[in-house]
Amino acid sequence: MDRIYLDYAATTPVAQSVIEAMLPYFGTEFGNPSSAHYYGQLAEGAIEQSRRDIKKVFNADDYDVIFTSGGSESDNLALRGAALEQRKRNGATKILISSVEHDAVGHTAAQLQQKSGFISVKLRVAKNGIVDLSQLKEQLNKQVVLVSIIYGNNEVGSINPIKEAAKLCHEHGILFHTDAVQAAAHLKIDLSDLDVDYLSISAHKFYGPKGVGALFKKKFLPLLPQITGGGQESGFRAGTSNVPLIVGMVKALEINNESINAENSRLIALRDKLITNVLRTIPESQLTGHIKDRLSNHASFVFDGLSGNDLLIALDMAGYAVSSGSACKVGNPKPSEVLLALGIKPSLALGSLRVTLGKSTSENDLDKLLTDLPEVVKNLRKEKQLKNGN
Ligand SMILES: Cc1ncc(COP(=O)(O)O)c(C=O)c1O
Repeated sequence: MDRIYLDYAATTPVAQSVIEAMLPYFGTEFGNPSSAHYYGQLAEGAIEQSRRDIKKVFNADDYDVIFTSGGSESDNLALRGAALEQRKRNGATKILISSVEHDAVGHTAAQLQQKSGFISVKLRVAKNGIVDLSQLKEQLNKQVVLVSIIYGNNEVGSINPIKEAAKLCHEHGILFHTDAVQAAAHLKIDLSDLDVDYLSISAHKFYGPKGVGALFKKKFLPLLPQITGGGQESGFRAGTSNVPLIVGMVKALEINNESINAENSRLIALRDKLITNVLRTIPESQLTGHIKDRLSNHASFVFDGLSGNDLLIALDMAGYAVSSGSACKVGNPKPSEVLLALGIKPSLALGSLRVTLGKSTSENDLDKLLTDLPEVVKNLRKEKQLKNGN
C-alpha cells in the first residue's frame, strides 16, 4: 500500500544533508567539548560555531542560546527557571499562560502552582484560537512574574500576536516567554524585532533530529538552571553537550530557512485547497483555529458524530498518517482542552482531525485524501449510528 505522511506537526524526517553534517561527530570528531585536548577542542569548536550560526538565523545578537534536549525541556527551563529566579528578585507569584498551551508549558505552570507556591492563570482565547490581548492587558500588574503564550498552536494552527503581547508585558516590566516549537518551522523569526525574553524551539519539527532544541534567553535576564552539574551552556544547563545533534539542528534550521518563503507559498495553496474542499464535501464539518492567521502547513477540523481516534485508525488503515489533536493526545479519549478553550462543545471536540503538510506533500497526495476522507467519515458516522441503535 502507498502510504502518505500528513503529520509534519508531530515530527519531520531528517534531511539527508543534515545526517551527513552530523556523522563526523559520532565518529572521528567524537570528543567531549569540555575536554582541553585536541578532540575536545574540535567538538567545542563545532558547538560554538553552531551557536554563532543559530544566532545569525534568528538575528539574536542580544540573546544567550542554551542548547537543550528539545521543546519540552526548553519550555520547562524557561518557565521554572524564569519564574523561580524572578520571584526571588521581585516577590511576584502569578504566572499567566494562554488556555491553548502545549502541555510542556501547561503542566509546568500547573506544577509550579501545586508544588512551588505560584498562582497559574489561563488567558482566554477567541473562537479562532487567538489569545485575548485585552484580557492580558487587564491582568498585567506587579503580582505577575511571567507570561507565556504559544506562538503557532500545535493543535489548531493559529498564530498568536507575540510581538504585541511581549510589548504589553514589557510596558509593565514583566518577563515574556513564547513556545515557538511549531512556529520556527514556518515563520522567519527575527528576535531583535520580536523582542521576547525567552523563546523555545525543537529541531525535529524542522527536519532536524529528535532530542535536541534550544532556549533563547535575552542576555542578563534571570534563569535558574534546572539541570545542575558541570558548567556547560554557561552554567544554564549541565550535561555533556550532544555535539552531533546540535550540529544537525543548526544545519536543518539553515536549510529550512533558505526555502521558507517559497515553501510557505506552496504549502498555503495546498492547505487552503484542502480546507475548502473538506468543508465543502463533508457535512457537519468545521475548521478549528484561525482561517488565515495559521501555520502554513496546518489544517485542522472537527466532525460531528464520530470519534477522532476511530477516524485516525480508519485513515491509517487507508494509508494516511494524520493526527487527532496533538501526538501526545493519542489514546486519550477525553476531548482536547485546547478545543474546549475555543468554545467547541465536548461531543464535537472528540471528532477532531489534524492534517499537517510538509516538504514531500504533493497536490496528488491531497487529491487522494480528498477522495477518501468523505467516504471514511460517512462510514464511521454510519457505524456509530448503528452502534447507538439509531
Ligand atoms: C507547541 C509545542 N511545544 C512543545 C513541544 C514539545 O517538543 P519536544 O517534542 O521537542 O519535546 C511540542 C511537540 O509536539 C509542540 O508542538
